[in-house]
Amino acid sequence: MRVSSFLLALLSALPATAQDAARGAATFQHHCATCHGVAADGAGPMAAVLTVPPTDLTRLAAGGAFPTIRVVMRIDGRDALVAHGSPMPLFGQLYDRQDTTILAPDGTPVLTSRDIADLVAHLVAVQQ
Ligand code: HEC
Repeated sequence: MRVSSFLLALLSALPATAQDAARGAATFQHHCATCHGVAADGAGPMAAVLTVPPTDLTRLAAGGAFPTIRVVMRIDGRDALVAHGSPMPLFGQLYDRQDTTILAPDGTPVLTSRDIADLVAHLVAVQQ
């Protein structure tokens, strides 16, 4: 009993400690800010030349919980929509190692890479 509750506590603590929002912020400025803006509000310098405006990523949780699974799959390209006509580039090749598990707000584990896990931590931190 004590061992299993210890393991449970350890498991729920792991994703939080494994994610580094500061590292995610640096990756964001490097790969995402040209379109989504340095503040992630969709006002990047490339926004003007895109036919589909970049999403305001500070409002992702506006409808309730942060959509972790949707966000991870958009970035790594597992979301099939991306392959069919979105101006957003695929980052799957950049982040193709699936070496980290993060938890969605409802507790669903999402297998992803360290880079995307950190990006998600950054995006969670900038929610309005
Ligand atoms: C070349 C411009 C461009 C770059 C660079 C870019 N994006 Fe996007 N992104 C878009 C556009 C345009 C959309 C809105 C259209 C769509 O959803 O396909 C979008 C949509 C998204 C969405 C979907 C939001 C939702 O409501 O589901 C997420 C998440 C996202 N981007 C994250 C990122 C991250 C993180 C990076 C950096 C790793 C990044 N984007 C880099 C243009 C870009």
